[in-house]
Amino acid sequence: MSDLKNIREQFLSKLKNDLSIEEINNFKTELFGKNGLISSKFKSLGSIPEIDRKQFATNLNQIKDELQNLISIKIDEINTKKINEKLEKEKVDVSLPGRPFARGKIHPVSQTIDEISSIFSEIGFSVEEGPDVENEYNNFTALNTPDNHPARDMHDTFYLDERKELLLRTHTSPVQIRTMLKDKPPFKIIAPGRTYRSDSDQTHAPMFHQVEGLHIDKNINMGHLKGCLNYFIKEFFEVDKIKMRFRPSHFPFTEPSAEVDIGYEIKDGKIVIGEGDKWLEILGCGMVHPNVLRNVRVDTSIYQGYAFGIGIDRLAMLKYGINDLRAFFECDYRWLSHFGFDPLDVPTNYRGLSR
Ligand code: DAH
Repeated sequence: MSDLKNIREQFLSKLKNDLSIEEINNFKTELFGKNGLISSKFKSLGSIPEIDRKQFATNLNQIKDELQNLISIKIDEINTKKINEKLEKEKVDVSLPGRPFARGKIHPVSQTIDEISSIFSEIGFSVEEGPDVENEYNNFTALNTPDNHPARDMHDTFYLDERKELLLRTHTSPVQIRTMLKDKPPFKIIAPGRTYRSDSDQTHAPMFHQVEGLHIDKNINMGHLKGCLNYFIKEFFEVDKIKMRFRPSHFPFTEPSAEVDIGYEIKDGKIVIGEGDKWLEILGCGMVHPNVLRNVRVDTSIYQGYAFGIGIDRLAMLKYGINDLRAFFECDYRWLSHFGFDPLDVPTNYRGLSR
């Protein structure tokens, strides 16, 4: 009997201490585990003389209940304490001022691509994309570029393998090929994207941006090409009148080919597009060469059309008064916060939602 009392007192005093859940669990095992102090007392009931047995069992049950009760109260206490401590630590002071967050800017080149895409989409062009890593066939051969053409030279093109089968596309024109191989005519697409050439100075970067245009249908002629480019330039520079000049040129993938210059003048140190007697070259274009159409299995007795390629960085520099191309690609955050655009700025010529 005194043994039972001892166990009770010993644990009552132990449970008064500051305990962890692990310690309490250890006590539980010590008392009620398979060979625990209380469990073994139950097992020994049979060896107690019959006259004492009933009283012993009553006491044993009382002590068992009492200790179990105390243990579960203690566990509750510990859990409540933990929750309170957590609440105390994680208290939110709603009266504190909000933390300012840095808002990014849209890069002028991305903004310009959005503007170009929305202008062309107004007159029915859809946007296509192609990979930066191209094969030689799409980039040159299918575009009617002869084997000995200087553009294929190592000095201009970044080849990715010794056999010169893979390269970084040197222009967006291969997207013409991809589009025409994938679908059936008519085609009316633009394809903006990154292009690469081994070139670097104030006006050339090894990576730059172009937008390709392609319109193939049954009766498309050079008049449509002129009308389309005239509309685009006016919309892009937000002017009513534009001076435009088509200069005969040569590209393997067009016949006839032309380069387009726009008129400008410098007023108060700033470039003004559409006036003046100076000329600025901004794009290459022409009627798609029949060889190109044949390479993509378009029937040249039914279909013909025009294509053009515009340097996007050049346009962005002109429109936004940026004079060093390299600044575009230097990732200088101060430059970007000055020349960049807020994400919610809708291009001025974007009328898609209001019409
Ligand atoms: N691909 C030419 C270049 O990178 C630009 C170009 C010229 C594209 C005439 C065309 C085109 O589609 O018809 O210089």
